[in-house]
Amino acid sequence: MSIQQFPGFIDIHVHLRQPGATQKEDFFTGSRAAVKGGFTCVLDMPNNPGDPTISLDKLEEKIQLARSARCDIGFYYGTDGNNLDSFPKAATEAYLFGLKLYMEDTTGELLVEDATKIAAIFAAWKSDKPILIHAEGEHIGVAFDLAQSYHRRIHVCHVASWEDLVLVRKAKEKGLSVTCGVTPHHLFLSQTDRTRLGSFAQVMPSIGDTSDQNALWEGVVDGTVDVVESDHAPHTMAEKHTNPPAFGVPGLETTLGLLLLAVHQKRISLETVVKLLYDGPRKIFSIPIQQKTYIELDPVKPFIAGALGYETKCAWSPFDGWELYGQVQTVVLRGKPVVQNAKVI
Ligand code: DOR
Ligand code: ZN
Repeated sequence: MSIQQFPGFIDIHVHLRQPGATQKEDFFTGSRAAVKGGFTCVLDMPNNPGDPTISLDKLEEKIQLARSARCDIGFYYGTDGNNLDSFPKAATEAYLFGLKLYMEDTTGELLVEDATKIAAIFAAWKSDKPILIHAEGEHIGVAFDLAQSYHRRIHVCHVASWEDLVLVRKAKEKGLSVTCGVTPHHLFLSQTDRTRLGSFAQVMPSIGDTSDQNALWEGVVDGTVDVVESDHAPHTMAEKHTNPPAFGVPGLETTLGLLLLAVHQKRISLETVVKLLYDGPRKIFSIPIQQKTYIELDPVKPFIAGALGYETKCAWSPFDGWELYGQVQTVVLRGKPVVQNAKVI
């Protein structure tokens, strides 16, 4: 094959860390990583360590800070269960794409465990924009029940186990307004990688075993999985070496190459890649088509992850040295080139 054109891809789950933890990443470096990896639009999570996006002022601050970005950036609102009064205004903000609810432990301070608070959050988010949950096991069931009672749309982030995938599949069969995403690290890593990589494979939810991995691939193939989301969660090497380590891995520069590796391995088709990184995200978040916005790459041409360094500030990847496919050569955003000859300009 040769160079082909694709739409600018959309990553609905990134942590660009600004403000609060710019030793890990900021909008400038994170957006450079995005376009290098083929994404012209990313949606940024609210769990900024020490500085979460849980007020209208904080949201406005992020919107201003993100003006340094090299790609389009949208945001999610966060909640600690005490900011429900600001939901109606936040929900109408054009740059806001949904509410993120952490029902499990996470980086930052946004864990909500209290059942009454969780119910109040679902009641108060009176919007067509989805509630995105970080939840596992029975917490997913709790969220589904609330979504049904209050007629809310719900997106289950980074499904990581076969059990949780079954829950999502059943909810979809029942007609619930639910979508889900999986990450490249849960698709491509399993128990042997956990041992090999140590803290550099520590993420929440944790990397599963091959039974989980196989189930996630089945979900991708049968359509249960709506999107692949990188959960780009950069931490410095030093933060990965602490005990306990920081949880999370970067993903913006390896996600597309990994999915094209899956195409090479004949696990999925090229059309499925476009569905997972473009059609799925656009559908869930009603993202309009961007004119004169596209990327170019040769999907069958191999490249080595990290061989030319990384744009992400953390400068490492759990996939370092892997043979991936389809290095992005060109990115054009609304007529303006942002990547040329595989270099961010
Ligand atoms: O591994 C993770 N990293 N899981 C999360 O829930 C948060 C993320 C981060 O922000 O570092
Ligand atoms: Zn995340």
